[in-house]
Amino acid sequence: MKVLVTGGAGYIGSTTAFALERAGHVPVILDSLLSGPRQFVRDRLFYEGDIADRQLLRRVVSENPDIDATMHMAARIVVAESVERPYDYYRDNVAKSMELFDELVQLGKPRVLFSSSASLYAFSDSFEVDETSALDPGSPYARTKLMMEYVLQDMSAATDLRAVILRYFNPIGSDPELQSGVYVREPSHVLGQLVMAARGLKEAFVITGTHYPTRDGTGLRDYIHVWDLALAHVAAIEQFDTVLDKVGESPVVLNVGTGQGVTVRELVAAFERVSGGSVPVIEAPPRAGDAVGAYANVDRIQRLLDWSSRSSLEEALQSALKWSEKRWEVLGYD
Ligand SMILES: NC(=O)c1ccc[n+]([C@@H]2O[C@H](COP(=O)([O-])OP(=O)(O)OC[C@H]3O[C@@H](n4cnc5c(N)ncnc54)[C@H](O)[C@@H]3O)[C@@H](O)[C@H]2O)c1
Repeated sequence: MKVLVTGGAGYIGSTTAFALERAGHVPVILDSLLSGPRQFVRDRLFYEGDIADRQLLRRVVSENPDIDATMHMAARIVVAESVERPYDYYRDNVAKSMELFDELVQLGKPRVLFSSSASLYAFSDSFEVDETSALDPGSPYARTKLMMEYVLQDMSAATDLRAVILRYFNPIGSDPELQSGVYVREPSHVLGQLVMAARGLKEAFVITGTHYPTRDGTGLRDYIHVWDLALAHVAAIEQFDTVLDKVGESPVVLNVGTGQGVTVRELVAAFERVSGGSVPVIEAPPRAGDAVGAYANVDRIQRLLDWSSRSSLEEALQSALKWSEKRWEVLGYD
């Protein structure tokens, strides 16, 4: 298959492009390089530009008439920034995605796999959420994702558009050949902070929030190896029509996680086992907007795509650690 990957220069997009290639498919990358590094595109078919540039989209399709489907991953993704700059987030993630979808329908390319997020879910007492669980997006970023889910629903009802929505949990790690990974200079998320503390680039790792109603008081997440997440995209694209036929409606929403919740303290302990060193830890109150967290019920994706995550937490952490050591070589910064 030939697959248009918007945001294919980004962390998950570049990893998925590689997974597509390994499965014998051809990715076509469309990315503005707003944040993704040019290096991650490698020698793939590449169009540098904006998802809302209809003229460019027409050129992409006229030069690649055999595109079978689109993975729409391009987005602004920094939660704290979305609180400060809501206009940029709604414009880029919502308004521009609508231009993309409308143009794809007009070009006769109606299959869309959309990157959504577990940050949509409302707090659940059991921490486990399935696709029917209550939603309560806690930030402008998360709200842009929910809005796009509604847009896909309404456009599916009114046009030829067909969509599968993947709600990602917390991807970590790199691909098997360490081609790409987390590239922001100072990652704000928990694993990036942990790696920096372990490598002495930060004095200590700060656990933000120790009085949550979890088993040890710290926040809980479902960390999924990014390679497993990439393979879920390959499975979804290969079985796109079958899945929509089976379910009988569009969009089909699927959680993509491991099905295991891991607390921050457990993550630190696992990281210390994998890295063989100890990480200095400081405890602090929660940051504004921090969520207790959730883990995925993955029955639906297992049943519909016959996909489940294969890597252990330790393997995913090992991969993240190896990438952090290789990063300089690929990106030119630590
Ligand atoms: N990383 C996560 O933890 C996570 C979790 C849930 C969902 N997601 C979603 O997965 C997708 C990919 O995330 P990522 O972590 O790889 O992010 P990323 O920032 O690494 O990748 C996004 C890419 O989109 C490009 N881009 C942004 N706006 C664009 C535009 N208007 N036109 C063209 N290109 C544009 C950027 O240059 C970047 O390369 C996003 O939609 C994100 O919301 C990510």
